[in-house]
Amino acid sequence: MEKPSKIAPAKGKLGVLLPGLGAVSTTFMAGVELVRKGKAQPVGSLTQMGAIRLGKRTDARSPLIKQFVPLADLKDLAFAGWDIFKDNAYQSAANAGVLNPQDLEKVKPFLSTIKPMKAAFDRDFVKLLDGPNIKKGKNKYELALQLKEDIANFRKASRASRLVTCWCGSTESFVKPEEVHSTPEKFVEAMKSNHPAIAPSMLYAWASITSEVPYANGAPNLSVDIPALQTLAHDHNVPICGKDFKTGQTLMKTILAPGFKARMLGLDGWFSTNILGNRDGEVLEDPGSFKTKEESKLSVLEYILQPKLYPQLYGKLFHKVRINYYPPRGDNKEGWDNIDIFGWLGYPMQIKVDFLCRDSILAAPIVLDLVLFLDLAKRAGMRGIQEWLSFYFKSPMTAPGLYPEHDLFIQSMKLKNTLRWMKGEELITHLGQEYYD
Ligand SMILES: NC(=O)c1ccc[n+]([C@@H]2O[C@H](COP(=O)([O-])OP(=O)(O)OC[C@H]3O[C@@H](n4cnc5c(N)ncnc54)[C@H](O)[C@@H]3O)[C@@H](O)[C@H]2O)c1
Repeated sequence: MEKPSKIAPAKGKLGVLLPGLGAVSTTFMAGVELVRKGKAQPVGSLTQMGAIRLGKRTDARSPLIKQFVPLADLKDLAFAGWDIFKDNAYQSAANAGVLNPQDLEKVKPFLSTIKPMKAAFDRDFVKLLDGPNIKKGKNKYELALQLKEDIANFRKASRASRLVTCWCGSTESFVKPEEVHSTPEKFVEAMKSNHPAIAPSMLYAWASITSEVPYANGAPNLSVDIPALQTLAHDHNVPICGKDFKTGQTLMKTILAPGFKARMLGLDGWFSTNILGNRDGEVLEDPGSFKTKEESKLSVLEYILQPKLYPQLYGKLFHKVRINYYPPRGDNKEGWDNIDIFGWLGYPMQIKVDFLCRDSILAAPIVLDLVLFLDLAKRAGMRGIQEWLSFYFKSPMTAPGLYPEHDLFIQSMKLKNTLRWMKGEELITHLGQEYYD
């Protein structure tokens, strides 16, 4: 891809479309509003708090990212969403129980105005949920056209100059890429014939891309990660990215594992278990949805540790991930990791991590950054898979034939170098020989 010659300014409103008005999306919207009102800090958001070094270490140039690249201002964000339940964003946030009542009260008038549009839903993909706020149509193609209409109506009603969609819906059952996912034409035919491999999230992705709206996938299901939609994204000049927000336990894994590998410490086993009691946890009780999540969580270590390259260190690694639905904890997940490592001469050691984490508190700033960066990418003329946003995902999407980069520190370097590249600044390699000339 060529370097953007210019980036269009972030003028006017940016409309944010959220399939799924659950814990993550309501925590995101409530947080944006609290920050806009000056009542909270956007902690965890690179676009709001991060700085970027430019030039040499001696140049002392480290502007905030939002001053370096033209990002939409939080005051210009407008929101809409779809859900299978009729609760408005305030009721849904209260039900999710992530934010305390005092914080929610401060944004109640704002959240109460966000009422979910009817969802394109199929119980075959989320077996443990059912709700009344669902579109009707002859086939999946009709549902997708209705989603396009929703997008057009929101564009008009919000007077947004640009839109971005971020899937915050439940994890759908595991589906493998099939022939019907291979080209835009076959995909449309499959929607028309109600093919069972066309998931609802794919309908949202199709409707967004064909409406020229960038699309991020926060869940591990395929959604936009199929050739048909990638071809469309390319043809419609739409940036896309996914899959599965990197929060909690996997975030810790991609922080720790690169450290062990950098020091050439071996690993015999990594056992991860979680308890969580939110709706996401309930959905993951279904083996189909869990399999989608499991695939996403397991692949991380394989790619970071490269056991084929280092068979003595990682060739026999036993990696297990468990998620247990445990309602008393709500959204406050607890994730345990038992890591069996070995050092010099093969002597064993153990590391235990007990992360009392807040899932949606970690996910909300990711939604914000993805929305702002996808909008930036679109204005910069970038299209198709945005691998530089791998930083935010458990299963980063890549071009066919490329393995994903999971190491958080490489991902962070890649993201920042992409911003430098977009603005024509020198890339930073950290070589630094010039300081010793
Ligand atoms: N919370 C995290 O830290 C985290 C991390 C990584 C990924 N995720 C993923 O993000 C997604 C959202 O997580 P959450 O905690 O907000 O879950 P949630 O259950 O609170 O919210 C998901 C919402 O999506 C709705 N929904 C399901 N199918 C839909 C459809 N077809 N159209 C419209 N709405 C639909 C559900 O009714 C629900 O309200 C999940 O897929 C989850 O796996 C979350």
